[in-house]
Amino acid sequence: MNDSEDQWLEWMDRLADDDYVIVDDFISEELFSLIMEFFHQKEVSNELKKAGIGTQKDFQVKAEIRGDFIYWLDKDRDTALSPFFQLMDELTQKLKQFCYLSLSGSEFHIAKYPVGSYYNRHLDQFSESTNRQITVLIYLNKNWQKGDGGELVIYKDGQEIMVEPVAKRLLLFKSAVIEHEVLTTNIPRYSLTGWLLQQPSGIGYLLS
Ligand code: OGA
Ligand code: NI
Repeated sequence: MNDSEDQWLEWMDRLADDDYVIVDDFISEELFSLIMEFFHQKEVSNELKKAGIGTQKDFQVKAEIRGDFIYWLDKDRDTALSPFFQLMDELTQKLKQFCYLSLSGSEFHIAKYPVGSYYNRHLDQFSESTNRQITVLIYLNKNWQKGDGGELVIYKDGQEIMVEPVAKRLLLFKSAVIEHEVLTTNIPRYSLTGWLLQQPSGIGYLLS
């Protein structure tokens, strides 16, 4: 086994044992720049939209629960992000190989939390859609410092684990079991968030 296989194995072990894993410097400087360039384009062209809660049927926009603005990614349309999608394919392979997860399909969005926004404590599964298996977060805040806020709090076994949203950090957790919260941010907070699915959701699944 080479070094990179060893690393993947260690990360996957931690995810299996602790239900979450944090990996610093997961993405390269190059990929970081690529994602930020894409992000700023979407910001400038006003394509980030207020995020809501729930499935399509009971979709609600509630600022008091979450205050972020998001843009859903599409692998075929957003080809500028191909290296990111390749990395996520690799991650999916490792999860299948080492954690024996049956994954097919994924969904990703970029998210901006404006100053003063937050996301209350929640689980990443909606009542009508339980196919989110693994939550993937890549943080994008260069020079983040204590006091900037926007930490992600993981609630686990009566403990509160603080995850600082520093640039290039990866956080993975099991979507069905980890309750979490985004604390109020004092700076514009950038991240790329996604879910690896047990099966494709919605109509695509019904038709396949
Ligand atoms: C979410 C979420 C956490 C974060 O989008 O469901 O919990 O740190 N995001 O951005
Ligand atoms: Ni969440």
